[in-house]
Amino acid sequence: MFDLATRRIVGATVFMLATVITIGMVWLTEEQRMARYEAIHKAKAIENGALIYEQYCVTCHGSQGEGVPGKGPDLNPGVFQHYEELKQTQNYANSLRNFIMLSIAAGRPIRSTYRSEEIYAEPMPTWSQDFGGPLRSDQIENLVEFILNWQTAAAAPTPPPAFEAMGSDLTKPLPPGDPKRGEALWNQEVKQASGLPASCKACHSLNPGEVLVGPSLAGIATTAAQRIQASDYKGQAKTPEEYIRESIQQPNAYIVDPNQFAAAPGVSKMPATLGNQMSAQDLADLIAFLMTLK
Ligand code: HEC
Ligand code: HEC
Repeated sequence: MFDLATRRIVGATVFMLATVITIGMVWLTEEQRMARYEAIHKAKAIENGALIYEQYCVTCHGSQGEGVPGKGPDLNPGVFQHYEELKQTQNYANSLRNFIMLSIAAGRPIRSTYRSEEIYAEPMPTWSQDFGGPLRSDQIENLVEFILNWQTAAAAPTPPPAFEAMGSDLTKPLPPGDPKRGEALWNQEVKQASGLPASCKACHSLNPGEVLVGPSLAGIATTAAQRIQASDYKGQAKTPEEYIRESIQQPNAYIVDPNQFAAAPGVSKMPATLGNQMSAQDLADLIAFLMTLK
C-alpha cells in the first residue's frame, strides 16, 4: 500500500493536471470565441464602411473605387499602389492601414505628387472631426476596413487581358476604325481594352458650346480641319484625323484656348495619360466616331 505522503503527492499532481487541462480548454474556447467575435466585428465594420463610402466618397472616387475623372483618383488599386511607391521611393515607414486612415482623416489640402498629371476640381477634403470634418473616428476606421477589403478581394488574381497600350506614340499604325464601337466607347457601353471605362464624356459635352472641363466636341471633325489651318497651330501638316489623334495622345502638343483650358503654362487640363488606357483599336474607333461629328 502507498503511504500517506505518496498519496498526497499523487493527489496534488492529479489536481494540478486537471486544473491545467481545464484552464487550457477554457482558454482554447475563449480564443475561438474571440476569433469569431473579431470576424463578425470586421464584417460589420466593412458593411458600415460601405454605407459611409456610398454617402461621402462615391462622387469623387467611384462606387468600386475606380476613380472619377477630374474629381478624384482611383483608390482600388490606386491607394495600394501609391503606398507601395511611397515605401520604395521615400522609405515611408507607416503601415498601409495608417496611410489610408491619415489620408481620410486629414484629407489632402495640398496636392501630393502621386498622379500629379491628373487635374482635380477640388482637393481631398478633411473628414475627421479632429480636423473639423464630419466623421467620428469609428466611422473613419470603418472606411479603412472597407477600403482594405478591396485589397483582399484583389488578391484573388484575375489576370487583366493583355493589350498593347497606345501611350503617346503617334507613329504606331492604326487599324480601320469602327464609329459605332467608338460611340459605344464614348457612352461607356463597352470598355476600353485596358478594362478601364472610357472617360471622355466626363469632360466633353456633345452639345454645341457647352463647356464641361474641356470644350464641347460637337462638330469636332469640322473644328479639327480649322485648327490645323490656324496660324497658331505649330504642328506639321496634319489631317483632321491626325489632329484628333494628337489631341487624345498628346494633349499638351496643342492646347485649345490656353487661358481657359491650360492647368499651367504648356499643360492641358486634359490628362496626358489617356493613351495608356487604349489599344490601337480603341483609339481608331474613338477617332472614327469623332470624325462623324461634322
Ligand atoms: C471632392 C472630391 C473628393 C471626395 C468627396 C473624397 N475625396 Fe478622397 N481624394 C480626392 C482627391 C482629389 C484625392 C487626391 C489628393 C492628392 O492629390 O493627393 C483624394 C485622395 C484620397 C485618398 C488617398 C489616395 C492615395 O492613393 O494617395 C484616400 C484614401 C481617399 N481620398 C479616400 C476618400 C474617402 C474614404 C472619402 C469619403 C469619406 C473621400 N476620399 C472623399 C477627392 C475626394
Ligand atoms: C479631365 C478632362 C478631360 C478628359 C477626361 C478628356 N479631355 Fe479632351 N480635352 C480636355 C481639355 C481641357 C481640352 C482642351 C485643351 C487641349 O486642347 O488640350 C481637351 C481637348 C480635346 C480635343 C481637342 C478639341 C478641339 O476643339 O480642338 C479632343 C479631340 C479631345 N479633347 C478628345 C478627348 C477624348 C476622345 C477623350 C477620351 C478618351 C478626352 N478628350 C478626355 C479635357 C479632357
